[in-house]
Parts: sequence; structure tokens; C-alpha cells
Amino acid sequence: MRVVTIIPTYNEIESLPVLLGRLRAAVPDSDVLIVDDNSPDGTGDLADKMAEADKAVHVMHREGKAGLGAAYLAGFRWALDAGYDVLVEMDADCSHQPEQLPLLLAEIPKGADLVIGSRWVRGGSVVNWPLHRKLISRLGSFYSRTMLGVNLRDITAGYRAFGRETLEALDFNAIESVGYGFQVDMTFRVAQLGKKIVEVPITFVERELGVSKMSGNIVVEAMMNVTKWSLSARWKKLTNRK
Ligand code: GDD
Ligand code: MN
Repeated sequence: MRVVTIIPTYNEIESLPVLLGRLRAAVPDSDVLIVDDNSPDGTGDLADKMAEADKAVHVMHREGKAGLGAAYLAGFRWALDAGYDVLVEMDADCSHQPEQLPLLLAEIPKGADLVIGSRWVRGGSVVNWPLHRKLISRLGSFYSRTMLGVNLRDITAGYRAFGRETLEALDFNAIESVGYGFQVDMTFRVAQLGKKIVEVPITFVERELGVSKMSGNIVVEAMMNVTKWSLSARWKKLTNRK
């Protein structure tokens, strides 16, 4: 099983070296792809230096900040071309603890097509999040789950492992979300294909270094898209029935 962990970065110069050290120690068998959107703080140069020192680390440089979704899609394309069997999504800020990655990876040989590291299943938790972030995440998950009819607790989660066939079955060009709604978008599409999605509990630890790129716009984009996808899925069902 060839595994690659894809890490999108925008201004993560403090966090990235800490994360990479932990990841390489916890799961030495996973290669790493850092996808940097030309971070003004020099994260991309630092990533290059780390790649020079460690053959398992690769770096993709993109022109400018184009959103989490776009960065992941570019990373997925590269990793599929490179022949990896399992593609992992992980934030650069140590919120997704590399030490828990084996819990996600273990589900793949058992038949999972997509594994989600979940904060909101029994055993999962969030450390150091203010109440408003907890509310946004739980309400966002609730709204998405209800509207889209996808029975998962943490639908916006960013800690994931995909089997390569799962991603090969998707049309990346059809994926329109740029912000964190990308995660919901991917989940909905994978669910619609009838693939097996498994949630495993994780402990999400709020970052200690750097700042979050979460914004009101990102929340609004996600809500609008969820509403749109839900209505269009319902409309398709209705019109097919006639
Ligand atoms: N390349 C690139 N381009 N990376 C980005 C961009 C971008 O435009 N925006 C954010 N990132 C990277 C950050 O550098 C970080 O590594 C990761 O994406 C997550 O960003 P954060 O800003 O730390 O996200 P968060 O902690 O607020 O949000 C978490 O929860 C969301 C909601 O559940 C993440 O786990 C998200 O993935 C999740 O959707
Ligand atoms: Mn974060």
C-alpha cells in the first residue's frame, strides 16, 4: 500500500516543520506532498529545503492563494499520476495529529473507500476550540447531513484517507467548491457513488502556531452550495420519477 499525505499550506512557516517531523516519525511509510499557494511568509521555500533533505517529501508550488479545494485537487492529480494507492488529507497546523493516522489507514484494507477522522462521533473530540467554532462545525455538519441525506457526523472534516479508486471515480472538473465546503462536496459525491465511508474518532487539537484561514465567506460558500446541491438532487429525483 503506497501512501501519500497531502498537506495544503498557506502561511504555515512555524507549523509545517513541527508537523512534518511528527508525521515522518509516526508514519515513516507515508510519502508527503506539500501544496503551497505561494505563501508570503516563505513556507514554500522552507518546504523545498525539507524536500531536499528527505526524499519522501515533495512540494508543489502554485501561483497564489486559490483555496483549499483547488490545492487538494491539484495534489490529488499529482498523486494519482504518481501511482499512490492511498491519498491522505492533513492540515499543516498539527490539528490532525499524525500519530492518529494509523487509525485511519487501518480501515482501508478492511474495505473503506473513504475514511474520515471524525470529531463528532463517540470517542472523537476537539481541544481548545472556542464555542463559536464548535457551533459552526456542529451546525454545519447537521445542516449538510440533513439537507444532503448523508448519515455522517463530521461531514466537513479535513482529516481523511481516500483509496485511489474512490478519487479515480470522481470528475474533478465538476467540483466547484474552493473553500472548506470542498470537504462536504467530496463527501457528497463519494456517497452518491455508493462508496463505503467510515468515520473513526480523532482528537482535533486547535493550532498553537499561526492563524486559521477560516472566514465568513468560506462558511457562506459552503452553506449556499449545500442548499443548491440538496435542491438539485431532490429535483432530479422528482423529475426522474415522472
Ligand atoms: N494551499 C492552500 N491554499 N492551503 C490552504 C488554503 C489555500 O487557499 N487555505 C487554507 N489552507 C491550508 C492551511 O494552511 C492549513 O494547512 C489547512 O489548509 C487548514 O486550514 P486552517 O485555517 O487551519 O483550517 P481550520 O483549522 O480553521 O479548519 C479545519 O476545520 C475545517 C472545518 O471542519 C480544517 O480541518 C478544515 O479542513 C475543515 O474543513
Ligand atoms: Mn487549523
